[in-house]
Amino acid sequence: MTLTFTLNGQPCATEAPDHWTVLDLLRDGLGLMGTKYGCGEGVCGTCTVLADDRPIRACLVLAAHVRDRALVTVEGLEADGQLDPIQTAFAERGAAQCGFCTPGMMLAAKALLLESPTPTAHEVREALSGNLCRCTGYAKVIEAVLAVASSPR
Ligand code: FES
Ligand code: FES
Repeated sequence: MTLTFTLNGQPCATEAPDHWTVLDLLRDGLGLMGTKYGCGEGVCGTCTVLADDRPIRACLVLAAHVRDRALVTVEGLEADGQLDPIQTAFAERGAAQCGFCTPGMMLAAKALLLESPTPTAHEVREALSGNLCRCTGYAKVIEAVLAVASSPR
């Protein structure tokens, strides 16, 4: 099938097998390796990307879903050479250790902040509750997202 959509702010047209997921499309079709393959069955959240500003699990959603939508991956968080405030906050607060969960965490956080720019700690925890991390213990991740929420943008 032919797919046309917006990828990280740029028009994208590509061919993909009908059975491909969004994760297959990103990693195998387009060579964007920032979106990670964790469980492959919708449990870990590490494959989270945004479709029209909403988080989706790229391993569960068929590639056809992105047609005519705006897809954002971790590669698209940076703009004009400037890191997204979420990326800066994660780096400054040590919210990433091995980094495997980090793209999905940051995109889940981005979706939350787009919808609710000043979330409570509870709302941050809830928004990230589907993103598993083996390293950080979550506290620094929550801190980083709250720091972005409370800083002027
Ligand atoms: S790889 Fe998609 S949820 Fe785990
Ligand atoms: S930083 Fe290693 S899994 Fe989250």
